[in-house]
Amino acid sequence: MSVEEAAAILRGGGLVVFPTETVYGLGADAANPHAVARIYEAKGRPRFNPLIAHVPGLAEAERHGALRANARRLADAFWPGPFTLVVPRRGDSSVAELACAGLATIALRAPAHPIAQELLAAFGGPIAAPSANRFGHVSATTAQHAAADLEGRVDLVLDGGPSAIGLESTIVAVDDAGAVTLLRPGAVARADIEALVGPLAAAKVGHIQASGMLESHYAPRAQLRLDAEGPRPGEAYLAFAAPAPPGGATLSASGDLVEAAANLYASLRALDAIGAETIAVAPIPAHGLGEAIRDRLMRAAAPRC
Ligand code: TXA
Ligand code: MG
Repeated sequence: MSVEEAAAILRGGGLVVFPTETVYGLGADAANPHAVARIYEAKGRPRFNPLIAHVPGLAEAERHGALRANARRLADAFWPGPFTLVVPRRGDSSVAELACAGLATIALRAPAHPIAQELLAAFGGPIAAPSANRFGHVSATTAQHAAADLEGRVDLVLDGGPSAIGLESTIVAVDDAGAVTLLRPGAVARADIEALVGPLAAAKVGHIQASGMLESHYAPRAQLRLDAEGPRPGEAYLAFAAPAPPGGATLSASGDLVEAAANLYASLRALDAIGAETIAVAPIPAHGLGEAIRDRLMRAAAPRC
């Protein structure tokens, strides 16, 4: 199960699950429209939903997108890392239009995980990859979760252990005028972005740009009840810092938001697996990574479409 083998599979138009520090990715050669089509098919994802093109760093990113000064400043600060930039797509980019769902923009991310970087180096081109889960399901934070979701639909799974961060990357759009919009909160905090580029514009309501903006998303099978101080009869309880009652789980015994984020999706999958009809979730503090955790929980709790 080597990185070289994975790169050869990508060259042949195959699908490879690989680790990043946020969540696992379901990767294909971004320049090969047939390979990209296989991603949508494997995920059961609507075609209109564009994919992130993963690159080693800024130099490769600039071959595919037009990065204004603001975008370059953010890339310098947060790459490689849990950060995705949406910028105008260059007409001469090799990334297949299907990967961008026909949009005039492109999402670019340089991940920090050493296996992801090794794979990018061995392959030598951009890798299109959404999170390695079936569409609408919670993202995979272990190779086993990815394999369980995508069994028989991928050619190789690279195991890099549990994801360090456990939530998808922060997504920020920088348009041709240099205006910066937060499309999806994540491990790179709003305050750290604003420190570099000033106040962020609000995302346009009703305009689906990031999959995190679809109402129901990142959802387990069970229904979720949020900001619950405790479980009602029959509910499984997902506690934040307190010990959970039997059959429940705790996100972080020490009340650490970073640890809670890393445990979130695995906990939801575990409570799903015991067959709970409803998972009651404790209130999560709203500061720091709490914004991203609350964002994902709100989408997981939204009425299913
Ligand atoms: O941490 C992550 O971001 C992981 C790892 C694998 O990199 N990837 C991930 O991909 O979460 P995905 O596809 O599940 O979510 C990324 C979202 C897409 O659903 C899409 O809506 C948004 O990024 N996106 C991609 N291209 C875009 C574009 N041109 N304009 C606006 N949003 C875009
Ligand atoms: Mg996803």
